[in-house]
Amino acid sequence: MILYFSGTGNSKLVAEKLSILMKEKLHNLEHGALPALHEQERLVLVAPLYFWTLPSPILRYLAQHPQLSQKELHVVITCGGAMGTGASLITRQLRCLNFKKVYVHALVMTTNYIPRHKVHAPEAAAKAIQAALDKLPIIAEDIRRKRGAHTSSFLE
Ligand SMILES: Cc1cc2nc3c(=O)[nH]c(=O)nc-3n(C[C@H](O)[C@H](O)[C@H](O)COP(=O)(O)O)c2cc1C
Repeated sequence: MILYFSGTGNSKLVAEKLSILMKEKLHNLEHGALPALHEQERLVLVAPLYFWTLPSPILRYLAQHPQLSQKELHVVITCGGAMGTGASLITRQLRCLNFKKVYVHALVMTTNYIPRHKVHAPEAAAKAIQAALDKLPIIAEDIRRKRGAHTSSFLE
């Protein structure tokens, strides 16, 4: 199953494309009850990066559904510029929620953080989004092979 949260559509688009590519069902975590999750089913979370970490609605949702932490979790992060130490900080946040095995995958798209970032012009944004979508087959393969982004051990 692919769970997602999206403020402005980048992560929604990635989740939708990934669900088609990987033949996984899709669930927006803001819409209704969590669908049944079978024992062998893979769990993928698609989310935007907020200040190098997971957005608080996601952390609340995962805390409210502790059964999810029994699964290995693949987190596909969309971000506007760079992951920075995001993979390590997110792994740490998820460990605090009892997730034992976490793989983080990063996709640089286009930023929606208007207060501080230089926002792309529409054509540049479309190009950046397409470049990110072109990487989805690699991300799907990394998920299948359980390969995640490098994390820094002192931050984990
Ligand atoms: C509050 C906030 C904080 C953000 N922090 C980061 C950040 O630390 N690094 C980064 O590269 N992008 C950051 N962004 C940009 C988003 O991660 C990026 O645009 C993402 O793809 C948006 O996904 P969405 O359209 O699914 O909401 C931030 C955006 C917001 C709204």
